[in-house]
Amino acid sequence: MKNFNFYAPTQVVFGRDAENELASLVKKYGGTKVLVHYGGQSAIKSGLMAKVEKQLSDAGISYVKLGGVVPNPRLSLVRKGIELCKAEGIDFLLAVGGGSVIDSCKAISSGRFFDGDVWDLYLHKTFATEYLPIGCILTIPAAGSEMSNGSVITNDEVDGWLKKDYCVDEFRCKFAIMNPELTFTLPAWQTACGITDMMMHTMERYFSKDDDMETTDAIAESILRTCMTEGHKVMENPTDYISRANIMWAGSVAHNDITGCGTTGDWATHNIEHELSGMFDVSHGAGLAAVWGSWARYSREENMPRFARFARNVMGIDTTGMSDIEAAEAGIQAMERFFSSIGMPTNIHTLVGKEISDAEIEEMADKCTTGDTQTIGGLKILKKADIIKIYQMAK
Ligand code: NZQ
Ligand code: ZN
Repeated sequence: MKNFNFYAPTQVVFGRDAENELASLVKKYGGTKVLVHYGGQSAIKSGLMAKVEKQLSDAGISYVKLGGVVPNPRLSLVRKGIELCKAEGIDFLLAVGGGSVIDSCKAISSGRFFDGDVWDLYLHKTFATEYLPIGCILTIPAAGSEMSNGSVITNDEVDGWLKKDYCVDEFRCKFAIMNPELTFTLPAWQTACGITDMMMHTMERYFSKDDDMETTDAIAESILRTCMTEGHKVMENPTDYISRANIMWAGSVAHNDITGCGTTGDWATHNIEHELSGMFDVSHGAGLAAVWGSWARYSREENMPRFARFARNVMGIDTTGMSDIEAAEAGIQAMERFFSSIGMPTNIHTLVGKEISDAEIEEMADKCTTGDTQTIGGLKILKKADIIKIYQMAK
């Protein structure tokens, strides 16, 4: 087992009416003037935004609002948020929404005191030293940003757009309010994208070259099985509180690093997908489902027994009499069947609605490796030429 450093400082307030704790949590973490950041209409339609405003007003906490975050959150709105924070003397950021809103908040947090272009942080040219604190009310379990140290932003100011991440512990939310009832309004597509994303956060850590790590592996396998059983229930009955609650908590533990303790992880599927959602503006979860099978078939030779274990322990396949490669293939096919069963695409054509061109593949592979100067993946180290092959397989 690899040495590890587990750090998950976010205070999680979970359950029915959890949002009623908002004002006391903002005060606890020092907020006196809050930027309330949100997306399109969902939080307004559900009445959540009105509740948020009432709570803050009743507690004498002043606030300004900035909506308009879209999935694959844009750099241009981040810049507006930074300017607003400076002009209004904001000392606390509240994200009301999902991964996109939280990630946009994180970017604003890092840019507020940074003496330079915030995008340089996402290009990993430098680090910011001072950050605004962030809290969130989560409305979609998916990205796991409520407990993660990452933020993913799409630069809409360059031709062809560019999606990049920046990861620092200062990005970990001070608190995350999670009321599963707030997710009842999620459309089936968003629910399924979320289930896929949280499963992939677990699988990115699970498929590594390391030896078995029984404690971590058992947690990961249990999360994956839970996502499938509870996922099917929630797709059938979107207002089933227990299933929504299980999925919501799974989304956080899938990405707060507990499933990565002692493993090196892989993350190639995420890197390959970020180019797809950066170029075609598709949902992140769906993009992951579209390429995972191709990545798995391309990379499995690096640790076939682990794929065979996945088939047995996660997909419940009786692998007696099968070779490791037969078991691995059976497990991959079963995973793809699960994705299909919740309406996810398992190839790029279905994802983007057209056959992508060789030129588009070349561009994505180029961006993914910063012009073939970097590799991705921990299980199998992938260069630009490998990534092109995976996109071709997933076409
Ligand atoms: O904008 P509104 O109207 O709120 O609609 C949103 C949005 O269209 C809707 N929605 C959210 N809560 C809802 C709801 N609709 C009805 N009822 C509710 N309760 O859902 C849509 C998707 O929201 P979004 O925030 O984009 O989803 P998600 O949480 O999946 O976030 C995706 C983003 O997170 C990034 C992805 O790349 C993508 O940009 N990721 C961030 C990570 C991190 N920071 O650690 C890790 C992930 O791997 C991921 O890359
Ligand atoms: Zn993800």
